[in-house]
Amino acid sequence: MERNQKVVLGLGQCSFDLLGSLACYPQLDQKVELNSLLLQGGGPVATALVTLARLGVQTKILSRIGDDHFAHLIRSGLEREGVDCLHLSFDRRQTSQLAFIAIDQSGHRNVFWHRGTARALQADQLPLDVIGSAAVLHLDGLHITPSVVAAQAARQNGVVTVLDGGTLRTDTEKLLPLIDHMVVSQTFARQVAGHDLFKALDKLSAWNAEAVTITLGREGSLTRLQDGTCFRQPAFRVEAVDTTGCGDVFHGGYIYGLLQQWPMCDVVRFAAACAALKTRAVGGRTAIPTLQDVERLLQSQHGGRQGHE
Ligand SMILES: Nc1ncnc2c1ncn2[C@@H]1O[C@H](COP(=O)(O)OP(=O)(O)OP(=O)(O)O)[C@@H](O)[C@H]1O
Ligand SMILES: [Mg+2]
Repeated sequence: MERNQKVVLGLGQCSFDLLGSLACYPQLDQKVELNSLLLQGGGPVATALVTLARLGVQTKILSRIGDDHFAHLIRSGLEREGVDCLHLSFDRRQTSQLAFIAIDQSGHRNVFWHRGTARALQADQLPLDVIGSAAVLHLDGLHITPSVVAAQAARQNGVVTVLDGGTLRTDTEKLLPLIDHMVVSQTFARQVAGHDLFKALDKLSAWNAEAVTITLGREGSLTRLQDGTCFRQPAFRVEAVDTTGCGDVFHGGYIYGLLQQWPMCDVVRFAAACAALKTRAVGGRTAIPTLQDVERLLQSQHGGRQGHE
């Protein structure tokens, strides 16, 4: 099978975000006027692909959405960014995943979301040839059966697999032995090993991933490599306007670094720079940086230097 070294394929849930900024989060039974309202596509894998597209990488999304108004906005938003949507299908008379996100003045956000009624892709509908010829397969693990089948096809063809672990779900363990790079949230890590982050790194590394990273919001991230080396990457210091999608953009930057075959500390530092730049404006995608933006930040900030544990 001919491998296209530069194509990143993402298999995951796509959503549509309604993002409102407000001065102060309301108490129960209160009304509050929004300072701004923004409508934009979202979803962990989809936004990671948009990040890669802005960095100049060829990307493809593999997913199913409803066929409602939001589905068409989801698709056109991805197409506008240059993400190949040939394998993004519409589920007739079903609704798409939708999120309402309330962002306060400190850049923190509360997310309310509905899964929608569109059915997940079935394992026997996956284009195995497309998966097998990608350079990287990026997964959110939400729909376990197609994710496992896709990861198996990737593994059989030497495609690097990356997992965005947001929440540990029943059956996630079926996917973990098939993952080369786990980049998981603090919530996921706590589900694995309570508050002991190093224990979570050890337990996740035992599934044989090449690298495991736990992202910790503005506290940065912690990475363990297969040889047992651990390092901490601080978050870049920025005036964050909105942290929505920081994790998704971090994954995009991380995969970009993998494609360049950089040492893992440089991969993670690049990912952190992408995520920090993303916080400059409201919306998961609005301020996703170009390569030039990231290079400028990396050169200008000696902050963001790693520490070894
Ligand atoms: N306020 C911030 N300032 C600078 N960088 C940030 C900030 N918040 C997050 N980041 C960067 O983004 C990375 C990922 O953030 P986080 O751990 O919140 O992801 P997450 O839990 O997956 O959230 P989500 O998926 O909802 O975006 C962090 O490791 C850090 O490098
Ligand atoms: Mg996340």
